[in-house]
Amino acid sequence: SDEYTMKIVCMGAGYVGGPTMAVIAENCPHLCARQIAKVCTKNTIVVEKSTVPVRTADAVRRVLNCNDKGLDFQVLSNPEFLAEGTAIDDLEKPSRVLIGGGEDEAGQAAIAKLVSVYQNWVPAEQIITTNLWSSELSKLVANAFLAQRVSSINSISALCEATGANVSEISRAIGSDPRIGPKFLQSSVGFGGSCFQKDILNLVYLCETFGLDECAEYWHQVIKMNDYQKERFTKNMVSKMFNTATGKKVAILGFAFKKDTGDTRETASAFVCRDLVQERANLHVYDPQVKREQMMVEFDYTLNLSTKTEPDLEKLITTSPSAYDACDGAHAIAVLTEWDEFKTLDYQRIYDSMAKPAFLFDGRNIIDHAALREIGFEVYAIGKPW
Ligand code: UGA
Repeated sequence: SDEYTMKIVCMGAGYVGGPTMAVIAENCPHLCARQIAKVCTKNTIVVEKSTVPVRTADAVRRVLNCNDKGLDFQVLSNPEFLAEGTAIDDLEKPSRVLIGGGEDEAGQAAIAKLVSVYQNWVPAEQIITTNLWSSELSKLVANAFLAQRVSSINSISALCEATGANVSEISRAIGSDPRIGPKFLQSSVGFGGSCFQKDILNLVYLCETFGLDECAEYWHQVIKMNDYQKERFTKNMVSKMFNTATGKKVAILGFAFKKDTGDTRETASAFVCRDLVQERANLHVYDPQVKREQMMVEFDYTLNLSTKTEPDLEKLITTSPSAYDACDGAHAIAVLTEWDEFKTLDYQRIYDSMAKPAFLFDGRNIIDHAALREIGFEVYAIGKPW
């Protein structure tokens, strides 16, 4: 409008989403705010898009309002809920749009302006308006709840393996209760990605800052359960392979943190590979989208986390051009990303090319286990009776 210029301010390294009229990306919100104040010539609505610590908007507003041009700045929080692999769909058909702003008249007017932009393609009833802090905190809480569901079902997967229950049957049984719902109940080798762990740690820090130690510990447990799930997977692999992986070729199918992306940040696959390398296994990794350089960067990061060094990394990790190459002569296969192509591989051909007994560890429960057993594989899957 004439009165206000609208800017989408990206604080951090997230996506640029939403109706971008001007984009200013900086790593530090305060520097970013100073830059906006410097270049603006009109009253401006500044919209936070990326995930930020709660009350960042307050800091940004204070910096902006120190401008010496007499301009009025309104700060809105409009977190994005795009997921990798479905970002465009999520943008075009969002489940909801969340806009937080000041509770005074000017704040409400700014909210109304951004609402009117979204109303061009999002039904009004899906646009939620809140105060600034609720909006900033909702972003963290949404990711924390999603991650919590994955950790919850993963904790049950361990119990299933111990008791003979089947985690997929449990997901179906509980997910058909509409109060629980079926999504994010897919048991796995562990959640990854750049958001879940970071956002939960942010939440934990926030709770601790306000002296809410029990709340902090509650959310921290979601991450601890995820770490346990990754470690448990590798330990099971080694134990089934007669308690040693030393010198054995292990095919790793999938390195990305989920299918349909080449992103490897915090991927469970890197943690499993790290632990197998430390057991002196020879890993042959295949991922349809991840290049060797990217894998090595992720390994470096993952190894650093454990303060262990691995001088033979280059030798112990081979990247394979196909799943068949990775599996050729292998003692075991670990399926760690749920790529569709892994469901339709010629497993008879793979079995014939492997050392025997041929182990397959399905960390995503995506392959037909009965058919694999029929071929002759020894199959171990997350949360399934063994
Ligand atoms: C997540 C949220 O889903 C988005 O809503 C949010 O906008 C985004 O973070 C963000 O903050 O930027 P994303 O990290 O792309 O999106 O991935 P998800 O689809 O949420 O999956 C995260 C991890 O959980 C993956 O490793 C996935 O394999 C795992 N997962 C997911 C399971 O193990 N089981 C499930 O049932 C679902």
